[in-house]
Amino acid sequence: MDALQLIGPFKQLLTMEALPLKGALTDSQLWIIENAGILVSDGKVMATGKYVTLKKEHPSAECQELTGDHVCLPGFIDAHTHICFGGSRANDYALRNSGKTYLEIAKAGGGIWDTVTQTRKADKGTLIKKTAKLANRHLKTGVTTLEVKSGYGLSLDEELKILEAIQEANKEVPSDLIPTCLAAHMFPKDYDGTKTSYLQELAQKLLPKLKAENLTNRIDAFIEESAFSPEEIAPYFKTAKNLGFNITVHADQFSTGGSKVAVEYGAISADHLEASTDTEIELLAKSNTIATALPGASLGLGCNFTPARKLLDAGATLAIASDHNPGSAPMGDLLTQAAILGAFEKLTNAEVLAGITVRAAAALGLTDRGKLAKGYLADFSLFHTNNYQEILYNQGNLKPCMVWKNGSLVYNKHKA
Ligand code: NIG
Ligand code: FE
Repeated sequence: MDALQLIGPFKQLLTMEALPLKGALTDSQLWIIENAGILVSDGKVMATGKYVTLKKEHPSAECQELTGDHVCLPGFIDAHTHICFGGSRANDYALRNSGKTYLEIAKAGGGIWDTVTQTRKADKGTLIKKTAKLANRHLKTGVTTLEVKSGYGLSLDEELKILEAIQEANKEVPSDLIPTCLAAHMFPKDYDGTKTSYLQELAQKLLPKLKAENLTNRIDAFIEESAFSPEEIAPYFKTAKNLGFNITVHADQFSTGGSKVAVEYGAISADHLEASTDTEIELLAKSNTIATALPGASLGLGCNFTPARKLLDAGATLAIASDHNPGSAPMGDLLTQAAILGAFEKLTNAEVLAGITVRAAAALGLTDRGKLAKGYLADFSLFHTNNYQEILYNQGNLKPCMVWKNGSLVYNKHKA
């Protein structure tokens, strides 16, 4: 066993414990320990409590005593990103801001296909480096776990290249990268066959390989007019489920249909939902499928936000993720985006913070993180303030000054 470490005192520690998974939250439901410490061993939390009490009870612990004001939060979890890609889509962004729509640009050969072309040109080493660099950028904003999707390969070999690059990048960064296969991101324009035969090939050849090589246990698909219809995707999801994959869906981004499929197939999450109406909100609220809002895509495309308030009031679980990708969501700053969603959708601090910690962990099926409690991963960030409300109030401009991952200090602003 590693030496015991005691870190603190923090003016406030938000454990994110004891919050219901579903529905609206008030800030009075947050567990806040004042003048707190965290006792860490073997990368895990051994205890949280008053710093002086922990110090007295564990005299052998090695103390990392901090001075000044700090608020401690669990490491953030970004449950939806596409940070393994080649090139840039700055030109798409300029075109959109000159009046062209995302779908018009896609139809004219830009959009996702442009990034597919650029990602295919990049070798695995380049993708590993770029993904690691972006993950490290997220780390400095307090994100210690990030989901990363493929989906810019769109052929068996290219999708495997991306998923292998994500696996390799994971070894090079302190944060945990959770891979997801998004080979059903759009129909590849160079594929010799139909949408149905493409999906059949993925089901028959790619999915078994992903299992055999342990490259991911998550399968995603974009259900939309410009990608795949609910009917087209059904047999693909059936096979994925039979093979034991978790399903997640890009749903209701521009039109409805995806969230219904997500619920029908028991998807772990339905993400986007900007176009969801009361019918879809009700459906999601009654299900165990987590609703993941992606404010970065709303900001990137200049369109409406996911109806987060309505989803929570109806009883759904709301996670918030960055959707960081070169097209619709180039910013890649989870805390800023979550704070902005909170302001527009009237979300409490508890709802926003749960959406990027404990509820985001649930969206990835991770039960070992998202809160700071005995046995959980010692993933946490410190913010220079004495009041947790300052964090969202600063709308992402108050960044963490220190980040710990698995009990190790992996970022210290003062030493960066
Ligand atoms: O989540 N909506 C589909 N996929 C991504 C965008 C990918 C891209 O534009 O490159 C999204 O927004
Ligand atoms: Fe996405």
